[in-house]
Parts: sequence; C-alpha cells; structure tokens
Amino acid sequence: MNSFGNLFSPIKINGMTVKNRIFLPPMGTKLSTDKGEITDKLIEYYVNIARGGVGLITTEVADVEGTRRYNKLNIGLFDDLLIPGWKKLVDALHKYDVRVVVQLIHSGPVPLYNDPKVSPGQLGPVAASPVPHIYKLDVIPHELTIDEIHGITRLFRDAARRAKEVGCDGVEIHCGHNHGLLGSFVTPLSNKRADEYGGNLLNRMKFPLEIVKAIREENGPDYAIGARISGCNMEDGGLTIEDTCQMAKLFEAAGVDFFDVSNGTLHRPETILPCSGMPKALNAEYSRRIKQAVNVPVGSVGRINDPWTADDLIVTDKADFVYMGRALISDPELPSKAKEGDTDDIRPCVGCCECVSSVQYGGTFFKCTMNSSAGCEEKLETAELKKRILIVGGGPGGMEAARVATIRGHDVTIMEKTDRLGGQFILAAFPPLKQEFADGLRYKIQELNKLGVMVELNKTVTKQAIEEFAPDAVIVATGGNPIMPGWLQNSAHKKVISAWDALRGVKHPLGANILVIGGGLVGCETADYLVSPHNIRPISGGRKVTIIEMQDNIMTDDSSSNRVLLVERLHRKNVNIITGAKVEEVLPDGITYTSDGEKHSLKGIDTIITAMGTLPENSLYNELSDLGIPVMLIGDANKPSKIMNAIYEGAEAAKQL
Ligand SMILES: Cc1cc2nc3c(=O)[nH]c(=O)nc-3n(C[C@H](O)[C@H](O)[C@H](O)COP(=O)(O)OP(=O)(O)OC[C@H]3O[C@@H](n4cnc5c(N)ncnc54)[C@H](O)[C@@H]3O)c2cc1C
Ligand SMILES: Cc1cc2nc3c(=O)[nH]c(=O)nc-3n(C[C@H](O)[C@H](O)[C@H](O)COP(=O)(O)O)c2cc1C
Ligand code: SF4
Repeated sequence: MNSFGNLFSPIKINGMTVKNRIFLPPMGTKLSTDKGEITDKLIEYYVNIARGGVGLITTEVADVEGTRRYNKLNIGLFDDLLIPGWKKLVDALHKYDVRVVVQLIHSGPVPLYNDPKVSPGQLGPVAASPVPHIYKLDVIPHELTIDEIHGITRLFRDAARRAKEVGCDGVEIHCGHNHGLLGSFVTPLSNKRADEYGGNLLNRMKFPLEIVKAIREENGPDYAIGARISGCNMEDGGLTIEDTCQMAKLFEAAGVDFFDVSNGTLHRPETILPCSGMPKALNAEYSRRIKQAVNVPVGSVGRINDPWTADDLIVTDKADFVYMGRALISDPELPSKAKEGDTDDIRPCVGCCECVSSVQYGGTFFKCTMNSSAGCEEKLETAELKKRILIVGGGPGGMEAARVATIRGHDVTIMEKTDRLGGQFILAAFPPLKQEFADGLRYKIQELNKLGVMVELNKTVTKQAIEEFAPDAVIVATGGNPIMPGWLQNSAHKKVISAWDALRGVKHPLGANILVIGGGLVGCETADYLVSPHNIRPISGGRKVTIIEMQDNIMTDDSSSNRVLLVERLHRKNVNIITGAKVEEVLPDGITYTSDGEKHSLKGIDTIITAMGTLPENSLYNELSDLGIPVMLIGDANKPSKIMNAIYEGAEAAKQL
C-alpha cells in the first residue's frame, strides 16, 4: 500500500531530483576523527538512515576552515586530504538512491574548539563584530577585516568544490540560529559593523551572498545550493519574518536553490530544538511566508515527527519538503513505514532532547530514549541456546530487556507488581508538555504485545517466586522508590506525600497551598502540574505552589531546552521558588528553613510534597546471590537515572544472555 502521496512524490531542486520530500536536517554526531575525517562509524550511521527510505540527507555541519574548527570531532571539508573519506560516505549513500547535501559552516565566534588557549594550533574566534558568543561570554572574537572576509569566502568556495568532487549533490550554508560566522553576520544581534558588511540588511547579507556567488561560479549552474535560515530570531532586536523574507529574496537572486527554514538563536535553544509537547511543525508559518517570497523550493524543520503533519505541510503549501531530524534518530525507518502505511509501527520521538544532551555534554555519540540502537542498525544475534528468562519489573528497563531477549530467541516472562506496564514512564507523561511520553509508552507496550512476550501483572516477585518459576537467568529491573526521609514521614505535618503520589492522583485532595521540597526535574514538573495554568489564586479554586531547593538554582543537572521552558512556565504561573535554602523543621502547618544564615518560615501549607530523588529498589536483587543462575541488575534499581539509561542497560543485559 502506498500512503502519503504528497510526501512521497519526487521534487526537483535545480539539477538535483529527490525521490521524496522527507529530508534529514544536519545533526552533529561527533563521529569524526579529531582531524575532521569521516569514520566508518559515521558512514554506518548515515547508511542506516538512508536504508530507511529518506529522500535526502543533509550531513552535520562541516568545517570550511581547519584552524577554526567548530568542535574537535566535527567533520571537515577544509582540506583535499579529507576527500577519500567523503567519497566513501557519498558512494555508500548513493546506493540507496538518496541525495546528499553537506552543511557548510565557519565556526566564526563559537569558541567551542577554536580557542587557541584550549586547542593548540587553532586561531581563535572571529566575528562580524567583537560581540562575545553565548557559549563563552568572556572571549571577545576578533572583528574580521575586509581582506579576511574575502579569504573566508574562498574557504567556502574551496569546500564546495570538494563537496562536488566527492559526489555530494548539493551544499547548504548555515546562516541561521545566530550561529557560526554567517549566522552571526546576518543578524543585527551580533553584527554591529558600520562598513559595507553591516548596518542594513542588504549589507549584513553581503558576505553570505558573495559566498553563494562564489560557489555558483565554482560548481556551475546546475549545482544545488541551499541556505539554512531562521524564520525569525525570536529575540528583541533580532531578525523578524519580514527581514528573513527579504533575505530569502536576496539569496534567491544570488543563486540559492532551496531553503531550510528553522527558527530562533542559540540563546533560546528551545526554538531550535523544540521539546516534547511543543506544537508540531512550529516553523510552518515561517516556511509558508518564505515560500510566498521566493520561487524556489522551501523546506520546514522543527518537531515534524509524524507523517500526517509532514504530508499536511505539503498539501497546505506551507513547505515543499520537510526535514525530520530526531524523528529519524528515534526511527530511521519512518519513511518506509509511512509509505507502506505501517504508521502504528513508527517508533515515536518523544522530544526529550536526550540525544542532544548526550552529544553536546555527554561527550558520546548520541543516544536516544526510544531507540537503544540509535545511530546504527540493530543487529541482534540469535542466542546459541534458548533460555527461560524472568524479568522482574515492567518499567522501561525491564520492557527493553524483554524485547531484546525475545528477538534473540529466548522464552521471556515479565512479572510486574502493579496492574500495568510502564513503571515511572507512566508518571513521566503526567506533567504539562510531557504528553508525548504516553505515546512512547504506548509504542513500547505494543512492541511487546506483537512479540508475544508473556506479561504477568499484579505479581510481586519474591525470591521464592523466582525459585518456583525456575528461570535460567533473571534480570532485576525493579526501579526505585521516592526518597522519603523519616524526619518528614514522621513529622508534625498531617499531610506529607511523594511527588509520585501527587501525580498518580492518590492521597488527594491536596489543598490550596502546597510546598514541594526539592527543585530537580520531578519537583519542578510536579509543581508545574499542580499549579493553576493561569496563576488563578485560591479564591477561585486555584493553588499556590512553592518549591524549596537547597542548591542555588533549580534543575541544575538539566541542560536541555525542556528546562528553559519549564523554568519560564514556573515563573509565569507565579510558582514561588526559594533556592539556597535548607529545611530545618517541619511544623503542623508549614516549615522553617534557613537561607543565607537567616531563619525563615512558611505557614499555612496544606500539603508537603517530597521530590528529593529516588532510592534504588534493589532489596530483591540483594537476596538472589545464592540462586546459582545469572542475575543482572539494571535501570533505576541499579542507579536512579533516566529512561534512556534504563533501556540501554536493559538491552545490554539481554544481549549478554
Ligand atoms: C515524575 C517523573 C518524571 C520523569 N521524567 C523523566 C523524563 O522526562 N525523562 C526520563 O528519561 N526519565 C524521566 N523520569 C525517570 C524515569 O521514568 C526512570 O528513570 C525510569 O522509568 C527507570 O526505569 P526502570 O525500568 O529502571 O524502573 P521503573 O520505571 O521504576 O520500573 C520499575 C518497575 O518494577 C516494578 N517492581 C518493583 N519491584 C517489583 C517486584 N518485586 N516485583 C515485580 N515488579 C516490581 C515496579 O512496579 C515498576 O513498574 C521521570 C520520573 C518521574 C517519577
Ligand atoms: C543531535 C543534534 C545535532 C544537531 N546538529 C546540528 C547541526 O550540526 N547543524 C544545524 O544547523 N542544526 C543542528 N541540529 C538541529 C537540527 O538540524 C534540527 O533543526 C532540529 O533538531 C529540529 O528538527 P527536529 O525537530 O526534526 O529534530 C541538531 C539537532 C540534534 C538533535
Ligand atoms: S532522545 Fe528523545 S528527542 Fe532525541 S530522538 Fe530520541 S526520543 Fe527523540
């Protein structure tokens, strides 16, 4: 069956014809060598995406200057020595009838790696103006001279020449997000020049336009040249959609053949990487406006993570093609499944942004909450011996272990003490904007049903139950419990409950004045869930919520775009946030706490909610050492963390069976 006819119709972009309208946007992987070379692992990652049926792959940003690299493990096109690796990559991808476009960047002011103090041999940040970059506010970039600007134009031209030589079907220059050199040249937020390269829009565009003309001259009239732009900077004083429509017209006149319309700046990561629960296709209005301004194809990017939304953008003329990024990390086979009408089998991306955090801050290739083999083909070898496997706990860790073990040919049973699968994954979907987690869980339950995994609910597993079941191996995935210290549980206050219970809806009603102790993810999300959406105060049935946190900020361990929005929402809804404070005493109607050496009190509190972390539930595991069979401990029961870690540990344990 052929579905989504619009999405799966071919499109012509200058001399390049693409078989369908699903494009992969550029996504950094940190899979290059430190010299910027393409690695086999990187080829494997892109081939896996190509195999899934995507029409066009935009590679991650590639450096055009070797002495001002964007990051240490970023691919490059700054040297002819890099050509053989690229040829291997492009040849491998062309076998799947996929078109390949390379995103070109000059890191410019971004001192991630190009800071000579940190990276010997690098020359340091440069920019339109001496405006520091958000990533390092104490480093002032060198303001480029006109000769230097011309030199960088030649670097782009050379990189584009190499792109053509290795067989890339096109290039895209990165001019969005107030990112890299070009992104920061075009926006008045960071271009403060008063010469011919600054001031008005036409002048700020002069540099990228010269680059486009140089590439056109070098690569010929048919070669596809694209530009990534932000439809709007989403910042006071930044580019507006009116500006970017003008930019698009100028680009088109200079020779740009297609646009990749994103949004925002690096100052507002949530505009570039929209997280769970944000509107789908949130840049559709910008791509529609740009489409009206130009006569070349325009693509839209940003939270387009299902084929209905994608197809609709094309039908309603809001885009000529769509970029699907994280949706293809979560499920590289999305295009072929959509085409075949197997939409139920598409593994949904829940928008958690763990992929970005793992690449940006974790120092690893990206990992995914929904896909334990993200970035490579899942190759599960059939086990030599079919075994009877018992998995204790039906949270995400246990479920993933069951999936992998079943695919490997084992006879698998999950025993779960509650009446449903999911564990904390169920609770994770309750707070505002987390609704997509429910779809993630729906998919994971469906996977187990399709595989025919035996699930026994309402079964609290004990050592005796395991002995009676007589498995060949046990995976203990019993998760954790909310930390509830004795001084709170046995305190003078009549209602102290865990955030988990508050979300589950047990032990309600909670009253109108609530205190949450602990300002981590769970505490903040619970406060967000409980407080009235529009700051309606108790008089009309609303609630007042206070968060108290010992550290000097809330959610300090979260660097994702989710945090930005959550913190903003808490402020907007007038949640009282007290940081740097230690609870000293619990009173019948409140607490006392110290902050900056001074004692304070909060009175009139109806409910105290604890969100002080998770205690691993490993008591069963600790009893099993003399069982005489392999017993593995995974997920929160091993170390409280996140869904992603639980599923990776679950998959790994099942591979060892
Ligand atoms: C409110 C909230 C929001 C969260 N948000 C996120 C988020 O946005 N992103 C993220 O990655 N993580 C989030 N987490 C954390 C995440 O859900 C957990 O890290 C993850 O679920 C751990 O998976 P697990 O399988 O190890 O354990 P769990 O999910 O805790 O599952 C363990 C299961 O074992 C069962 N069990 C326990 N003992 C027994 C027994 N003896 N016999 C049978 N069954 C037993 C339990 O009933 C439970 O179903 C959130 C957690 C909460 C509470
Ligand atoms: C892991 C990761 C790396 C990214 N790297 C780049 C990059 O190299 N260049 C760029 O312009 N955008 C980059 N982005 C942004 C994506 O191109 C895309 O605009 C964004 O993910 C929104 O699309 P999506 O909702 O379909 O994921 C990256 C995104 C992710 C998730
Ligand atoms: S880690 Fe989260 S946001 Fe990233 S692809 Fe996976 S599900 Fe989507």
